[in-house]
Amino acid sequence: MSYREKMRADVDTYYSTEYFERLGGPEAVIRVEFPHTAWRELFIGCLPANRQLHLVYEQGDPYFDDRDIVIGLLKQIRDEVKHAREFSNLAEQFGVPCDLVHMEPENHEKLIEQTRAAVEWEKPHYVAAGFQCSTEIMAAFMIENMADYIEPEYPDVATVLRDIASDEGDHVHAGRLIIKRFSAPEDFEQMEQIAENKYTAAKAVLKAL
Ligand SMILES: [Fe+2]
Ligand SMILES: [Fe+2]
Repeated sequence: MSYREKMRADVDTYYSTEYFERLGGPEAVIRVEFPHTAWRELFIGCLPANRQLHLVYEQGDPYFDDRDIVIGLLKQIRDEVKHAREFSNLAEQFGVPCDLVHMEPENHEKLIEQTRAAVEWEKPHYVAAGFQCSTEIMAAFMIENMADYIEPEYPDVATVLRDIASDEGDHVHAGRLIIKRFSAPEDFEQMEQIAENKYTAAKAVLKAL
């Protein structure tokens, strides 16, 4: 099974109707899941992409051959900021304070650890192996499952979520482009290890729900 298929199956198993019901229904899903998702969109979405931009600037050819990657990453950062604001605005509409400057979601330390694990690499394709080509795919599946669950009660909110999930294809594309252009065969083992570690950690988080 590919990572993509494994992630789909894990998300369907753990980020499921059963979990959403346990939270207390559609409104509870919005109130509980949206604030930390807003945090993730902002920090886990933007900081690794920003790091890649810096690494591509230093190690690549930002004004000519790698311009497509620069533009892809800038678009990703713009999208993630938008996603974060959408989640935080929706949370606030449902009465949960979610100011992105001041909020500290539950498990803040753990979320920071996850962000560091995605950001702190010296090569842009190492970041991609643990980010766009791994946990970001999982995050999109999670957003789709939330959309499916809340749709009957809150169709407008579900539409926002589906639009967010549909941006993810572009982000995965940016990550693939980086891997294709920057990685060499001697990097493959390390990239595989990074992807495996990220997958195992993300699955553990889902399983603990
Ligand atoms: Fe996003
Ligand atoms: Fe994304």
